[in-house]
Amino acid sequence: MAVLRLAIHIDSRLIPIIRTQSKEVMSIASDAIQDQVFRNARTQNGFTDQAVTDAELKAVYDLAKWGPTSMNTQPARYQFLRTQAAKDRLVHMMSPGNQPKVAAAPVVVIIGHDLEFYEHLAANFPHNPNARGVFAGNDALIQGTAFRNGTLQGAYFMIAARMLGLDCGPMSGFDAAKVDQEFWTGSKVKTNFICNLGHGDPSKVMGRLPRFDFDAVSKLL
Ligand SMILES: Cc1cc2nc3c(=O)[nH]c(=O)nc-3n(C[C@H](O)[C@H](O)[C@H](O)COP(=O)(O)O)c2cc1C
Repeated sequence: MAVLRLAIHIDSRLIPIIRTQSKEVMSIASDAIQDQVFRNARTQNGFTDQAVTDAELKAVYDLAKWGPTSMNTQPARYQFLRTQAAKDRLVHMMSPGNQPKVAAAPVVVIIGHDLEFYEHLAANFPHNPNARGVFAGNDALIQGTAFRNGTLQGAYFMIAARMLGLDCGPMSGFDAAKVDQEFWTGSKVKTNFICNLGHGDPSKVMGRLPRFDFDAVSKLL
């Protein structure tokens, strides 16, 4: 059978990947894309004046939405603050160091998770008629599922933003109770984290901090 030969560079070693042509082959993203999304992508503390359009925000969501969640729960909810008036509602709830960052960011997204996510499972997990019943009344499972999957979706969102040429400045320094009351009142959505979006100002980026090596945090069993 014909084979397709691919290779990936890992730590200067060429690792061959061989798949038969009978299966669809996933291509390896180019080094340039890997750099853009991970190696050169930095947490931004300031942005240029370049605007972020609503179309870009929708495109980021439309890419990120394909990231997986358990039982397709999709608990993440988003509020995009684009106007000065909207950002003014949030700024004073941020920790002091984060306030100027929010005030100056082109867009600020509040990423929350809906504790009533299970009410949508009839539509989003229709092959299991008992999907709602798995969660209803089980607060610990609801909280854990919403937080875990909402956090994943927040990460997918940042990866998608970077893939589409935007920079991110995630923040957890804020008064969550106040943000919940101001932005999610009347719902069961809880704020997870807040992320500035725009085109980063390299002069405001901090020095790169170290990351663990594989061996320091991993076991191959
Ligand atoms: C969930 C989350 C919360 C964060 N909260 C804050 C914050 O409140 N204020 C802040 O200045 N930086 C915050 N950061 C930024 C991190 O310190 C930064 O992403 C990390 O040091 C890695 O920086 P790098 O992406 O430039 O390598 C946060 C990052 C994440 C992912």
